[in-house]
Amino acid sequence: MQQFNDTSSILALLKTRKSASAKAMVAPGPTPEQLSEILSCAVRVPDHGKLAPWRFILWEGDARQSFGDVMKARWQVLHPEHGEQTLGSAYGLFLRAPTVLGVVSAPHDNHKIPVWEQQLSAAAVCMNILYAATALGLGCQWNTDWVVYDAEIARAMGLAPNERLAGLMYFGTPAAPLEERPRPDPAALLTRWQPS
Ligand SMILES: Cc1cc2nc3c(=O)[nH]c(=O)nc-3n(C[C@H](O)[C@H](O)[C@H](O)COP(=O)(O)O)c2cc1C
Repeated sequence: MQQFNDTSSILALLKTRKSASAKAMVAPGPTPEQLSEILSCAVRVPDHGKLAPWRFILWEGDARQSFGDVMKARWQVLHPEHGEQTLGSAYGLFLRAPTVLGVVSAPHDNHKIPVWEQQLSAAAVCMNILYAATALGLGCQWNTDWVVYDAEIARAMGLAPNERLAGLMYFGTPAAPLEERPRPDPAALLTRWQPS
């Protein structure tokens, strides 16, 4: 069995899935066909109430630079004490990968389906994207970073007040070998409920 991202069976992929790092991602990213396939998988998630409480924002090509200007300007306001190096990181956040996809949690407020459940469905979308991209042989990472928690950036992304980014999905070709990280022991996480 391949150490990481073994696509020989669904179970093999589930057991060996490993994210790539947005810090070490180069072109090419997904082709338009691959992106379309990834999005088809993305929307095939459990969704209580059939509300489709999510949507997507794509950054490719020059849009990453343009949004880099926005992130840099915002970082300057938030951290005027920081120097050129951190400003460069803010500007270059989306330039680390050829393709960046925002998964927006867009819950229906005042609906009988709790907002929490709708947000969980958005997380499932992110996970499906991660698996679909990996199955296609792409590197992918689910990130958030400070931009997900800043109201001004949210506005610049065009998010409505009740919308939040569930994740920024970075796609590309891994430029460094994938490295394992410690995994929790599932047995240690399991308890059997018993009546008291
Ligand atoms: C909601 C969410 C947000 C995350 N944000 C970041 C992030 O901003 N930066 C980062 O390095 N990893 C972030 N991670 C972690 C990576 O997605 C991933 O867990 C890590 O790269 C290891 O991946 P692996 O499970 O494939 O080993 C986030 C994970 C989740 C679920």
